[in-house]
Amino acid sequence: MKKILFVASEGVPFIKTGGLADVVGSLPKCIDKRYFDVRVILPKYICMKQEMKDLMQYRFHFYMDFHWKEEYVGIFEANVGGVTYYFVDNEGMFRGHKPYGDNVYDEIEKYAFFSKAVLSSLPLIGFKPDVIHCHDWQTGLVPVYMKERFRGNDFFAGMKSVMTIHNLKFQGKWDIRAVKDITGLGDYYFTPDKLESYKDANLLKGGLVYADAITTVSDTYAREIMTEFYGEKLDGLLRAREHDLRGIVNGIDYEEFNPATDPNLAHNYDAVTFRKEKGKNKRALQRELGLVEDDKVMLIGIVSRLTDQKGFDLIARVMDELCQDSIQVVVLGTGDAKYENMFRHFAWKYQGKVSANIYYSEGLSHKVYAACDAFLMPSLFEPCGLSQLISLRYGTVPIVRETGGLKDTVEPYNEYESTGTGFSFMNYNAHEMMATVRYAERIFYDKKREWNKIVDRGMAADFSWNASALKYQEMYDWLIG
Ligand code: ADP
Ligand code: GLC
Repeated sequence: MKKILFVASEGVPFIKTGGLADVVGSLPKCIDKRYFDVRVILPKYICMKQEMKDLMQYRFHFYMDFHWKEEYVGIFEANVGGVTYYFVDNEGMFRGHKPYGDNVYDEIEKYAFFSKAVLSSLPLIGFKPDVIHCHDWQTGLVPVYMKERFRGNDFFAGMKSVMTIHNLKFQGKWDIRAVKDITGLGDYYFTPDKLESYKDANLLKGGLVYADAITTVSDTYAREIMTEFYGEKLDGLLRAREHDLRGIVNGIDYEEFNPATDPNLAHNYDAVTFRKEKGKNKRALQRELGLVEDDKVMLIGIVSRLTDQKGFDLIARVMDELCQDSIQVVVLGTGDAKYENMFRHFAWKYQGKVSANIYYSEGLSHKVYAACDAFLMPSLFEPCGLSQLISLRYGTVPIVRETGGLKDTVEPYNEYESTGTGFSFMNYNAHEMMATVRYAERIFYDKKREWNKIVDRGMAADFSWNASALKYQEMYDWLIG
């Protein structure tokens, strides 16, 4: 039995801010249990829901030398969906009403602590992974510490590490002196071929330099990040490690996201019944959110973190024009104040037509995916994107920009060949986006049978984890040798 440990800063059902949590919560369940024992370790955040904390059992604690202090490290354990989870407890480190705070220094300290605590606790837990699979910058120090601090320790001999990039934009960068102080790593590590990047210390870079393999969450993004535009100043390093870098597209949990059984929906439906049943969800949502109740109008959904990444500048530019069309828009998201206020403004200006829901809600997100006719995701960059996959599963036609995983998972509609699962445009240009939305409107209103066939093809596409889990298994096999 090969042993794999996922190390991450969030995971469903315990804590989620975005797609990373969906991946960490669903991929381990789909790795073949006959050959792999996959476990997950997360921080035990104070802000986790009590019902989640109630699932955890205290295992043990110890004190660890960290940042000039002896820090308490508690280890908790839970088993959910057949997967064993461990949690690192330290209430001072994992304080706050959400997992990530705004103070970069604190964030770096928190995740340096987490990374070191994970490695320190493994011998005590008694789980000796063959591969430690790290996710995003928060865990970038794990491969570094494995090669440094824990090198002399037999327990870690031969252990391999993988670094998966879910979002290259976030790297965990701060002043070298402070990071040296926090991590206890010596001068040797802070040179441009290691953790130093443009005069700062960079935790993700450390992970990318020291991991035995690197993956990211779609083929296109894997290629994009080796270019200057998408490379976030690490493209040189990624080109140098090209042979250790692969793209494996994300899947989604087909049980959690299933319109036939989803308990959040007013009316369940499947690939056969959607023509009759899906529209009832639209009615229900229109009523719930105070939109004009109308079966016929095209309802466009957005469920997203409201940040620059997601292309809201394009929407800001043409929203007034689009709102002259016969459409409705429902937004669910939180993030940058400028986008939160922008959507509040449009909801006020176009009452009954635009609904802005500026909060986080699992339940409402499922209703939006089910109720909408189309889903808009004009991202500036998108490593993979799960929202468009959920939309496809719910028979909601994605309208996306051709970047990263959006390009790899949404096949553009071709009216001559009657192929495709959505609509897409290439350039980061508001009018190109608007033209594409309007093209979708024309098909929706004038060629309903064609539209429904797009839905048929989208619902038939397979974005479960089946294929991608195999690719991860192949990579683990290759690493373990
Ligand atoms: P990212 O990870 O960049 O945020 P993804 O498309 O990969 O983007 O994943 C986003 C996930 O977070 C999806 O499951 C989406 O439904 C969910 N999500 C985003 N914002 C909200 C919100 N306000 N309420 C509920 N779910 C949300
Ligand atoms: C990141 C990316 C998103 C991806 C998710 C899970 O948050 O922004 O594109 O789907 O991670 O890999």
